[in-house]
Amino acid sequence: MNTLKNWLMVLFVAVCSGAYAQQPDLDVPYVPTKQETVEEMLKLAGVKPGDVVYDLGCGDGRIVITAAQKFGATGVGVDLNPQRIKEANANAKAAGVTDKVRFVEGNLFDFDFSKANVVTMYLLPSVNLKLRPKLQKELKPGSRIVSHDFDMGDWPAEKTIEVGSDTIYLWTIGN
Ligand SMILES: C[S@@+](CC[C@H](N)C(=O)[O-])C[C@H]1O[C@@H](n2cnc3c(N)ncnc32)[C@H](O)[C@@H]1O
Repeated sequence: MNTLKNWLMVLFVAVCSGAYAQQPDLDVPYVPTKQETVEEMLKLAGVKPGDVVYDLGCGDGRIVITAAQKFGATGVGVDLNPQRIKEANANAKAAGVTDKVRFVEGNLFDFDFSKANVVTMYLLPSVNLKLRPKLQKELKPGSRIVSHDFDMGDWPAEKTIEVGSDTIYLWTIGN
């Protein structure tokens, strides 16, 4: 009995450490944006039908799904965590927008977002700064970027609004 218990314990520890080892090396932990803030981010970016919204680090997909469902846009979300991509796909299905959105498991630093004309982010100050040259290089003139809570250092936002305890920043890519 003791031997079986010990074996089960070893198996349990092995499974847990295996699962831990498979956790992706995230640059930002998962903290979802409140739905009210999601909608204000999309309004601040002026999202409308025809726009292509990319959420970098998309979590459960709520920003891209809302952009499709309530603003008539199409969208793509990328996240390094496969669990988030599973949730995002399930949420898109439940919302009836699988023909308008797509979720990709991958690293946002390796992701081509040149087809976006709206980019949304809820990352960290250091990650925003690291991403800034890629955003400025890949996005077409007139593309809008909205960031929840964090700015982009000495690139001044053209608009900043408060939604409850959240701050949202807007930039537009110039010519
Ligand atoms: C603060 S959450 C924001 C989630 C969602 N955008 C929202 O606002 O509700 C950050 C997300 O970025 C993802 N993430 C962290 N590092 C990443 C990376 N290098 N590439 C892609 N996704 C990443 C995390 O898995 C997490 O889902």
